Amino acid sequence: MIAKIEQLLAEVDAMYAKNADELEELRVKYLGRKGSISQLMQDFRTVDPKQKKELGVKLNELKTKTQEKINELKAAFETQDTGYDDIDLTLTPYPQKLGTRHPLSIVRNEIIDIFARLGFTIAEGPEIEDDWHVFSALNFAEDHPARDMQDTFFVESHPDIILRTHTSSVQTRTMERSQPPIRIICPGRVYRNEAISYRAHCFFHQVEALYVDKDVSFADLKQVLLLFAKEMFGENTLIRLRPSYFPFTEPSAEMDISCHICGGKGCPFCKHTGWVEILGCGMVDPNVLENCGIDSRTYSGYALGMGIERITNLKYQVKDLRLFSENDTRFLKEFESAN
Ligand code: DAH
Repeated sequence: MIAKIEQLLAEVDAMYAKNADELEELRVKYLGRKGSISQLMQDFRTVDPKQKKELGVKLNELKTKTQEKINELKAAFETQDTGYDDIDLTLTPYPQKLGTRHPLSIVRNEIIDIFARLGFTIAEGPEIEDDWHVFSALNFAEDHPARDMQDTFFVESHPDIILRTHTSSVQTRTMERSQPPIRIICPGRVYRNEAISYRAHCFFHQVEALYVDKDVSFADLKQVLLLFAKEMFGENTLIRLRPSYFPFTEPSAEMDISCHICGGKGCPFCKHTGWVEILGCGMVDPNVLENCGIDSRTYSGYALGMGIERITNLKYQVKDLRLFSENDTRFLKEFESAN
């Protein structure tokens, strides 16, 4: 019997349970009514009285040790940090931090949406361009200042290769490869050799629109401009066209809208004129149509181009152009609700 007790003491010493169920099994195995220790207690009654004292002490030791070990294992489960104890399942989930769209993307998408409703489709072209698509085909004179290194980024080893200075180059490419009707909107990044300041940057974004078909007139252009201004800046917006000059349009105009801050009454934003300038436009010069392989006696068209930064500034009064390319999340977050 003493050997049995020693064996059980060793077993209890090494006892281990992974969870409460396993522990309960062990308890039943050793201390349960039919468990090994209870069995020994029964046997104890019939033991030789001379051995009773020594065996009794051993048996008690085994019983206490087993109970202690079980308590110890139980306590370990209860204090174990499962990581789930302090979860309150009734709480709402943590809000997912979503990124926000860049203000220039928000405005670009808005411009595209307006023109898409009029049947314009998106066209794109390369940012690294050649002189023909940016200048020559668009009727720029040989000595036009835009062709100067001061204004345009050239690739040193290839003077014919430049960074496009306007998205009008996409007009050229589209007209070269397709015949009218052409109705496209061309959003994109453009580059100019400017010192970076709060009001100028060496790159910015434009959207160009081009419509070429039979019998396209200045009246069509005016209608689209008015509709665009109202959609973009509100139903009460007025437009004003001022004669201007661009090599690729004839006649050319610049469009102002009534100042949406003061409603046209005059304020510091519109320099007390009641008007703010937003884009350039005109009827596509017949030379440009011919340069791109389109018969200028059959077809005519209008074009317009605007700076996305400019429109964004008007809508959101961003005073420093540099903010658009710094990716400061404090600035970008301000547009969360416009997304
Ligand atoms: N390309 C001109 C610029 O960068 C903007 C422009 C003016 C585009 C008149 C046009 C237009 O299509 O008709 O300043």
